[in-house]
Amino acid sequence: MLSVAVEAAKEAGKFLKLNVGKVKEIHLKVGQATNLVTEIDRQSEQLIIDIIKRHFPHHDFLAEEGGLRQAESSEGGAKKSEYRWIIDPLDGTVNYTHAFPCFAVSIGLERGGEIILGVVYDPNFDEMFTAEKGRGAFMNGKRLSVSKTDVLIRSLLVTGFPYNIKDNPDHAIEHFVNFLKEGQAVRRMGSAAIDLAYIAAGRIDGFWEVTLNPWDVAGGILLIAEAGGKVTDFLGKPYSIYGKSILASNGIIHKEMIRVLRKAI
Ligand code: IPD
Ligand code: CA
Ligand code: CA
Repeated sequence: MLSVAVEAAKEAGKFLKLNVGKVKEIHLKVGQATNLVTEIDRQSEQLIIDIIKRHFPHHDFLAEEGGLRQAESSEGGAKKSEYRWIIDPLDGTVNYTHAFPCFAVSIGLERGGEIILGVVYDPNFDEMFTAEKGRGAFMNGKRLSVSKTDVLIRSLLVTGFPYNIKDNPDHAIEHFVNFLKEGQAVRRMGSAAIDLAYIAAGRIDGFWEVTLNPWDVAGGILLIAEAGGKVTDFLGKPYSIYGKSILASNGIIHKEMIRVLRKAI
């Protein structure tokens, strides 16, 4: 399964890199002025699903552009599979439409509601991040571990803003200001999948965001757990990819990050 996920992510990544700067159609998602979708997102998604389906025709898919697709039973009706591939075919679409080279492909595999495999591929740096439950996290075959930074003031943090940031959901603006004051620096890269992969790689110490979708995070969260980090919600409670908030860190600064998030809840 891992090699199929890697093959699909690599093929889609190649496709994205080849077409950067050549986007023809930019559409807005319903009711959202800054949430974009292009023909490249859709083609990348189809390419990934085609590759995975060739190997696993009876698995389910949850993909950003096409939604939930369940495998057909032998009688023709929908049959829920134990396996669900969760796919973001282009994470960082706004960057992509500006030819800003920070975007990725993200693929997670859920079995019985638990993520058992995750892949994030950054075609710009040719970095393939992979994790399997209980088997560690890797980047291009090299084992990953989270950073050892032990205080917030020396921590490099990253976040993302929801597309409805103007409504300031869940005090997203206050959290950003509070972390700017308490951390060493805060970045906003525009790809949640890369944010998560960088925590696993020890390049970033902590990440928080609200209202992400399952496909933004399904490929990345296992990387962090397998690299020795921690993923919870804003209050430190167990994390679900279907939940509202995510807090991911090297584990050491987690408590300090919860303290800051509690300032505006
Ligand atoms: C977006 C990116 C971004 C995050 C947004 C996501 P998309 O995904 O991950 O970093 O802040 O909330 O929706 O739309 O480019 O796939
Ligand atoms: Ca995304
Ligand atoms: Ca996307």
